[in-house]
Amino acid sequence: MNPRVEYADDIVKGFILSSILWGVVAVVLGIFISLQLSWPELNIPPLLTYGRLRPIHTNAGIFGWGIGSFMAFFFYITQRLTRTTLWSPGLARFQLWLFNVIIVLAAVTLALGMSQSKEYAELEWPVDILVVILWVVFSVNIIMTIARRKEEQMYISLWYILATLVGVAVLYLVNSVSIPVSLFKSYSAYAGANDANVQWWYGHNAVAMVLTTPPLALFYYFLPKSTGVPIYSHRMGVIAFWSLIFMYLWTGAHHLLWTPVPDWVQTLAMAFSIMLIAPSWGAVFNGYFSMNGQWHQMRENYLMKFLIFGITFYGLQTLQGPAQAVRTFSAFIHYTDWVPGHVHMGALGWVSLVLYAGIYYTIPRIYGRELYSVPLANLHFWLVVIGQLIISITMWVAGVQQAAMLSATNSDGSLHYTFMETMVKLYPYWHARALGGIIYFLGLLVFVYNVLKTMGTANVRGEVAR
Ligand code: HEM
Ligand code: HEM
Repeated sequence: MNPRVEYADDIVKGFILSSILWGVVAVVLGIFISLQLSWPELNIPPLLTYGRLRPIHTNAGIFGWGIGSFMAFFFYITQRLTRTTLWSPGLARFQLWLFNVIIVLAAVTLALGMSQSKEYAELEWPVDILVVILWVVFSVNIIMTIARRKEEQMYISLWYILATLVGVAVLYLVNSVSIPVSLFKSYSAYAGANDANVQWWYGHNAVAMVLTTPPLALFYYFLPKSTGVPIYSHRMGVIAFWSLIFMYLWTGAHHLLWTPVPDWVQTLAMAFSIMLIAPSWGAVFNGYFSMNGQWHQMRENYLMKFLIFGITFYGLQTLQGPAQAVRTFSAFIHYTDWVPGHVHMGALGWVSLVLYAGIYYTIPRIYGRELYSVPLANLHFWLVVIGQLIISITMWVAGVQQAAMLSATNSDGSLHYTFMETMVKLYPYWHARALGGIIYFLGLLVFVYNVLKTMGTANVRGEVAR
């Protein structure tokens, strides 16, 4: 008999609550900036303009909602997979405070216009230093817990967790090197094409190490846990893991096709992007094959719906991504709304669905209660899926129309449409996106209500959390 291990779960609660708060902020801002594009009078200078609010939206979404919940789940999963109590709960509590302070500082400094102007790496150098401290504290705690593990085998989720810790550290340190000229102004240490190349090496690997490896760690853990079915092939998971890590690092320049970055760098990025389909779909197939003979659970088990829809959007995302990385296709859709369509299928369809599943799974367990309402969880599911599909699909259609208009030429080779003419045609799509955002937001409110009720009251309805 193994002795019972006491897990440090208070910290998990803290991170989940914080990440939900930042998720709500991200969605509200998403809807607002969407409306600002259609109704410019909603821009209130200097603080509430589109240019200031857009990076707050992306930072709140990726770092507040995304990383906040990954921190919660890395603590939850690591302790259970290693059968070991967290190395330092005290350090984790410090990390929770620091995390929230950093997100607030990020929002305030960005609203005041203090920015390095690098997408997803906007924060100025003093905040960057706090981020580095945060990441070191987090990594040491997780790595020490794994090092002292009582379970010999390293389940695949732990590999994804370790890759995230190392990957984010390397990317952030390299891309953020800058020369401070005052307390809140610095200039990148790189220049010209090199700067762009380093930035998008970082940018795309942020997609890899923040929007891919952490949700995959969660998917591999929560799918078997919530369905009671083991993963189809652990070996396939490990092979897909190593190939994914190897291939991602070369793809950043697919954001810089048709730019002064050397041609061979662009071609390399294009080739590796296409190769990425294989390891990405390794995870998708692993998920699908695990469910062989279990598909009836899609009707009965709401958690499986979140996870299987999530991995399906990941599968679509990792086909669309490589297509966009091909020069000819990129020439058409780059600089159009097609790209935000791709982004939100990933952020809302893949990452967020897996996070919702994780929260629904863990909250009843760490609070020792059953989920307040499964019907509400189902309602939440449909509202966020419908909202996300409206956002993604309208942006793809808008992108294709915009691309066609931007590339239309007259017989003498001059452009047929002015840039403004293409913009005006986008208004109906932007209205539809805002509508999708509002439907998504309603789903989010149902989710928040369900989670808070589960935390705050005994389960009055008697439903079983699976
Ligand atoms: C559900 C409601 C949401 C709406 C209506 C919305 C709307 C928007 C809008 C209008 C933009 C700017 C697009 C542009 O510049 O043309 C944007 C960008 C972005 N949003 Fe959202 N958003 C939502 C939720 C989220 C969430 C929850 C996340 C993260 C988890 C997220 C991540 C991003 C990212 C990464 C970008 C930058 C895209 C790029 O540079 O191409 N969004 N969003
Ligand atoms: C095989 C995997 C993938 C490949 C090859 C890929 C490829 C690409 C390409 C080529 C672009 C640039 C489009 C352009 O501006 O012309 C892009 C943008 C983006 N992708 Fe993916 N993608 C992949 C998976 C994902 C996943 C899983 C996510 C998760 C959410 C994601 C999130 C993003 C984001 C946030 C951007 C916008 C970056 C920006 O601000 O410009 N991608 N992707």
